[in-house]
Order: sequence, then C-alpha cells, then structure tokens
Amino acid sequence: MEFQEIRTELTDALAAASNLKTLEEVRVHFLGKKGSVTNATKSVDFSKLTPEEKRGVGGAVNSLKNWATESIAAKKAELESSPTSESFDRDLTLPGSGPQVGTIHPIRQVQLQLEEIFRGMGFRVFTGREVEREFYNFDALNIPADHPAREMQDTYWLNDGHVLRTHTSATQVRALKKFGAPVRAIFPGRCFRYEAVDASHENTFYQLEGFCVDRDITVANLIAVMKSLLGEVFGREVKVRLRPGYFPFVEPGFELDFECTICSGAGCSTCKKTGWIELIPCGLIHPRVLEAGGIDSKEYSGFAFGCGLTRLAMMKFHIPMIRLFNSGDLRFYEQLAGKS
Ligand code: FA5
Repeated sequence: MEFQEIRTELTDALAAASNLKTLEEVRVHFLGKKGSVTNATKSVDFSKLTPEEKRGVGGAVNSLKNWATESIAAKKAELESSPTSESFDRDLTLPGSGPQVGTIHPIRQVQLQLEEIFRGMGFRVFTGREVEREFYNFDALNIPADHPAREMQDTYWLNDGHVLRTHTSATQVRALKKFGAPVRAIFPGRCFRYEAVDASHENTFYQLEGFCVDRDITVANLIAVMKSLLGEVFGREVKVRLRPGYFPFVEPGFELDFECTICSGAGCSTCKKTGWIELIPCGLIHPRVLEAGGIDSKEYSGFAFGCGLTRLAMMKFHIPMIRLFNSGDLRFYEQLAGKS
C-alpha cells in the first residue's frame, strides 16, 4: 500500500473512532506487528536503493510512523477528555462516586469565628493543655486543696496526680508566665467534668477563656468586650444580664447570662425554664492569680472570662440537646456545615 493511501485510510479511521475500544483496534490495524504501517515499512528493500534513495525513503518511513503514532495519541487524549465518548458507555443513573468531603464541626466553626473577632480586638490565641497539673487547674487559681470551690467541679484525676482540666482557666497562669504583662489572649479548648449528661451538660465540652492584663483595667473594659463579642456572634443585639458570681480567681466575679435563643426567654428544658442561659462567667483577675503568674498586682490589673463554647454553639444553631455535638452523627454535622 502506498504511504499516501495509508495516511488517508488512517485519517478516515480516526475520524470514525468514537470510543477508546475502537481506537485501540485502529492502532493495532495500523501500528501493530502486522499493521499496515509496519508492513509498508518492512516492504521497502533498502539493499536495492542508492544511499541518496535510502535517505529519502527512510525519511518518508519515519515520518509516516511518527505521524501515525502522534495522530492516534491525539485522538486518545481527545476521547479521554470528551464526555461524548466513554462516559456514554457508563450507567449515568448510578449515584455519584466522587470523594467525600468533610465539614467543619459546628463547635469549631464557632471557635474560629470567635478567634477572628478577638484577633480583631488585639487578642492572641494560645493553646493550653488538656492534661494539666493540679497546680494550674486549682492552686494557681487561688483554689487551695481544702477550698470548697474544688467541689464545684467534679474532676477526672489521673493516677499520676494530673487532672483532665476542668476549665480553660487552667491556662491563665501558664499564659501569664509565658507572655508577662501587658497581655491580651484567648485560650479555646476542651474541658472535662465527671458530670451526668443532660440537655445542656456534657462530660466533655468546650470553653473559650480569655483575659486582658494591663494598667488600669476595669469592669467597664470587660463589659465593652463582652458586648462586642455577642453582638458580632449573633449579628444583632442580644439581651444579657450580669449577676454577681463567685469564682476564687476573680474579684469581683460575675455571671453574664443571655436570653435563651431556643425559647426566646419563655422557658424550656435547655434553659431549665428560666429563660436565661448562663454563658460567660467573668470578673477582674484576683491579685493572687496575677502574682502566681509573676505579675505585679499593684501595677497591673486585668479581666478574665470563661465562655461556654459548646453552649454558645447550641444557642447559635438552635440545638436543644448538647449530646448531639459529640454524637459523631454526620447527618447532624452536615446540616450545620458552613452556617456560621
Ligand atoms: C468556669 O469554668 C470558670 N473557669 C469560668 C471563669 C473564667 C470565671 C474566668 C471567671 C473568670 P463554670 O464552671 O461556670 O466556670 O463554666 C463556664 C461555662 O462553661 C459555663 O457557663 C457553661 O457555659 C460551660 N460549662 C460548664 N460546665 C459544662 C458542662 N458540663 N457541659 C457544657 N458546658 C459546660
């Protein structure tokens, strides 16, 4: 067969090949061991040719082979990327088999939002320890061994005397030692208490602690920061109230509650029929805590707060049962993906 005839035949065959299987047949027909391109090149008797003719015919043979190889490869690439070929051979009614993409856990979504808000107010983010020394969880926070406040938090004790931290306040003195004063920092993280689970209590939950230590810090600074925070989180003004609260590591201490967003204050199981959710205990840092962190309490003062992050997520997403957060139920997480 003449080279030109082969080119014409291959061009037609490629145009007609509508899927990869047919294309493979075309390739074998032309470039296989007994294919027409292979045969045509074998049929040339180079021994009878002059050197000049050899060069000419050799060049034509190579050019035909290269052209055939490249044309078939180009057609293959076209078919592989074309939705009109192979894909029509598949059953398009089957469910999608693409990769499963995860979602950000709802508590983490709220945590990230809060981190951004606090960063905007000049706070740094610091990560404390979940397994903590008794000293940082209690003693450094003005809660000595015989202090009744230790009973407020049922604690998981480890055999070696460490505790699973019962609150993120355990990070306060670590942060004071690390950064000194002045300092503004938040420490979000997981806390553990040996508690019975009910609508709003879990044995494993998240808090977001924060503090600001500087000269002349007062309750007015604390209230201003808390108001900006809640306004940003809920995107509107939320009703709040401040009550006196007792925590050995603040003086004075407060409980900042806000109106239950599940029942709008009418009373439900989440707010224990009070219409209010206890959300952010706070106060001015006790001088003994500042001193434990190596800060001169005559020169510096500060405020601290410990926000219940899990509770905040419940309010934000209107989730009446806290245990859903730790349920591992993907249907729950997927519903709340990207809602913050
Ligand atoms: C404390 O843990 C203090 N460390 C907070 C604090 C920090 C006070 C700084 C003053 C200054 P309390 O035990 O109230 O306080 O817990 C704080 C918040 O964590 C609660 O308001 C609540 O929202 C959340 N919380 C407490 N226990 C649980 C629980 N079992 N399940 C879910 N959330 C909880």
